[in-house]
Amino acid sequence: MPQPTSSPIVRVLNRDVGRYHRWCTPSILEDQERVEDFYASDVSISAGFFGTLVDHTGIFGEAERFAAEAQGADRSVFSVHGSSGSNWIVLRMLALERQDALVLVGRSIHHSILNGLKAFNIDFRFLPTPYEPRFEALLPPSVEEIAEGLRRYPEAIAVIYTSPTYEGLAANTRAIARAVHDLSDHAMLIVDEAWGGHLHFHPELPLSAMAAGADVAVQSTHKLAGGLQQTGLLHWREERVDSELMEEAYREYVTTSPSYHLLASADAAVRTLAAEGEAALGLAIARTAELKAALRERLPDLEFLDDPAWLEAIAGHAAGTDRVKTTLGLARYALSGYEVADALVERHIVIEKAGVNTITLITTFQLAGDAVTATVEALADVLGAAVRPDGARRDPPANPFRAMDDRAVIHPYQARRLAKAIGRELPLREAVGHVAAESVEVYPPGVPLVLEGFRVSADAVDYLLAARDEGGSIVARDTSLATLRVL
Ligand SMILES: Cc1ncc(COP(=O)(O)O)c(C=O)c1O
Repeated sequence: MPQPTSSPIVRVLNRDVGRYHRWCTPSILEDQERVEDFYASDVSISAGFFGTLVDHTGIFGEAERFAAEAQGADRSVFSVHGSSGSNWIVLRMLALERQDALVLVGRSIHHSILNGLKAFNIDFRFLPTPYEPRFEALLPPSVEEIAEGLRRYPEAIAVIYTSPTYEGLAANTRAIARAVHDLSDHAMLIVDEAWGGHLHFHPELPLSAMAAGADVAVQSTHKLAGGLQQTGLLHWREERVDSELMEEAYREYVTTSPSYHLLASADAAVRTLAAEGEAALGLAIARTAELKAALRERLPDLEFLDDPAWLEAIAGHAAGTDRVKTTLGLARYALSGYEVADALVERHIVIEKAGVNTITLITTFQLAGDAVTATVEALADVLGAAVRPDGARRDPPANPFRAMDDRAVIHPYQARRLAKAIGRELPLREAVGHVAAESVEVYPPGVPLVLEGFRVSADAVDYLLAARDEGGSIVARDTSLATLRVL
């Protein structure tokens, strides 16, 4: 009998992952209650005496009620497909609410929201969203920008934006919720809080979307809230959200074989955060401060996103920052963020995100005691001799979002259909000015720079080419970026 060959996935998980300091998701709460034997206890919906996830009964209903209370929501449901799945469900709910729905969206939204808008043919307008090239960061929309959007489009049924952003900037959701509810008697405020599942559990973190008065919040429990990969929570308030439609959308989407192990991890993580979150997060905040202080001393040419003067200048857009994130600008160094990330991997350190000019680290719950020292030493080793001469700053790539219109020339849903019939492929530079028939992004962060149905801008093309040349990961039909399909 031939022996089964060894699975490379099993091998890497067992042998290699533990060798790295991981400043990246998932952030696993080490002392959460754990399933004892993953394999012996795997079970399906056939064991219906436990209750049913999509019916919100039995142990699942109990867990949902706990999560809702812990996070300050009227209703909560679990996702085993991260925030991508929850965003899909939310957009489906909007499409069920109104066939001609119009939605106002921040530009820093994740591709899962854009894909939902496309799939359900929901009309949308982008809110103006300023960009900070030093940190390659889109800022959250301001109260005024959202209020202006609602005055222009009073028929909008929802406002959607990301907060905190990937870099950890949190919108002023309390004031925005007040403005949305004052200006419209029906619009829902929906916050993609994929990066904020932990916010509610420490007083020094920005207010969570639910606590700030949003109508819907989508969270990845696996990102910063302690759970295993894929886990997430979708919360809502019932005043403006039709629970029947949300549940219908949930039933349409959810797999009939959800992993009870993932659900158990999400449930246990929320319970741990509710009981011990302040202590665990307090430690992570203190370690982040320690990391930043050591880096400021060893590498004075780094630029820090939480520079108080800069935060003051953008206070209209960001009411606070996530204090377990560290985003660093590298303009005074001769290395790109991608090169720094690769050099760190060689030293057994993995960071969350690299850009052309930046890196972002997350102080995860599972970091070992020597992680800060090891990482500061490694960064000093990589960057110490790479300071540009005379303190000169490298010009950051231009804002890749600058020239994008607030509305599509052709809705992405139509553009996708026309792509097969009349789409043609052009060399990327020649595609500038044409209407794109496909989307292109750098991942992470997963915010599309070229969008189906929108005109291709020179800034976006420049940014994509720079990211590709520096070693960024391009997500597209043609990842070499030789060609782009246009209409
Ligand atoms: C803002 C935002 N929303 C949604 C997602 C998708 O989250 P998940 O990986 O849990 O599907 C991400 C992933 O990075 C994200 O950054």
